[in-house]
Amino acid sequence: MHHFDYRDGILHAEDVPLPALADRLGTPTYIYSSATLERHYTVFRDSLGLKDPHIFYAVKANGNLGVLMTLARLGAGADTVSEGEIRKALAAGIPASRIVFSGVGKTEAELAFAVEAGIYQVNVESEGELDLLSKVAAARGKRQPVVLRVNPEVGAGGHAKITTGGAANKFGVSFSEAERLYARAANMPGISIQGLAVHIGSQILKLDALEAAFRKLRGIIETLRAQGHGVTRLDLGGGLGIPYQMQAPYAHGPELLQDYGAMVRAVTEGLDVELGFEPGRLIAGNAGILLARVLYVNERADKRFLVIDAAMNDLVRPAMYDAYHEIWPVKEPEPGLAPAAYDVVGPICESGDTFTTNRLLPPMAPGDLLVFKTAGAYGATMSSTYNQRLLVSEVLVRGADFAVTRPRQTYEQLLGQDRAPNWL
Ligand code: LLP
Repeated sequence: MHHFDYRDGILHAEDVPLPALADRLGTPTYIYSSATLERHYTVFRDSLGLKDPHIFYAVKANGNLGVLMTLARLGAGADTVSEGEIRKALAAGIPASRIVFSGVGKTEAELAFAVEAGIYQVNVESEGELDLLSKVAAARGKRQPVVLRVNPEVGAGGHAKITTGGAANKFGVSFSEAERLYARAANMPGISIQGLAVHIGSQILKLDALEAAFRKLRGIIETLRAQGHGVTRLDLGGGLGIPYQMQAPYAHGPELLQDYGAMVRAVTEGLDVELGFEPGRLIAGNAGILLARVLYVNERADKRFLVIDAAMNDLVRPAMYDAYHEIWPVKEPEPGLAPAAYDVVGPICESGDTFTTNRLLPPMAPGDLLVFKTAGAYGATMSSTYNQRLLVSEVLVRGADFAVTRPRQTYEQLLGQDRAPNWL
């Protein structure tokens, strides 16, 4: 479900016609819909069917200030993986008491920042991190609430590069080590051990692997309790997938969320723990599009290239994960118009800068606008200045209003970061 529709033949973001945005702000630009963000958040929350779910939105999916502020208003917390993300969440009005900090490589400075900010929970991923965090917190006279991230040796996800729960992946403490580390944590001066966390991958569309992982975690909790440990929290991570293609068999609706909620309730029945969730893609993915303009149509005997002004530095998912994004023209195609096959490519000087090959689209001409759908998650957050291109701009729409929540970088800013070495 999203709020990007054709009206009178022109694609709109909520009530805002996209050509007006392109003319005002230039392209490429990301455009987010407040109504879609709000809907996804509330549908997810409600489908859990729990009294007090702790929802920590995964900031890495989309850290735009306007997006974070919209979610903060709904009561969302934040799942963060760096000091930058903690700072962003705080700046958006998400209180420290609703922020968790995950990741395999937290530095001492980042842990100190998190402890001093008084965040709700650190999701510790290794013994070394546990020792360091205890030292950092104790030195400040604090005990940091912690959950231990367990690698359940169950991996899942839409691509090998986004699977995290397998035994070969770098995330979490090993299943067999969990009990020993929990017992150690219980005796550390700077640690207040609260429970366990798990996250097995991203873009997961089948619930069986998630369920298997959650059941394993339940087993560990029961063992820990039998050993006399207190366990009050279970953080179930993120990872639920979304439809990147709107047609069957790819499309799915809120029923996946209903099934997820029912599965979580069944697996945690009677466990008496506070449940945490870290959805990212599910909230932001279909709430964002990338708007771009056609520069050239290069015809060859056997190929037709659509060269657009967006590139892999703006949206890297197709190049990095062979990800599929629907492409819609901003001007609604006339019914009955024969489509043409295009390779849609960006201006960057490598063949990897290809969004798709042989995609059937209505005939396009230079100057035409198009959008990449489902680009709200891991789109702008993964953008870069590769080829010295300006960092892409971001816009948040609400009804007929819009706000440029991240203006396009300027050349002064791009060049202003550089410093000449004093020997040249
Ligand atoms: N929690 C943890 C510990 C995570 O590592 C992640 C994502 C999430 C939550 C949120 O997962 P989600 O609900 O969004 O699936 N760049 C890739 C996705 C990387 C996901 C990394 N971890 C992509 O564009 O597909």
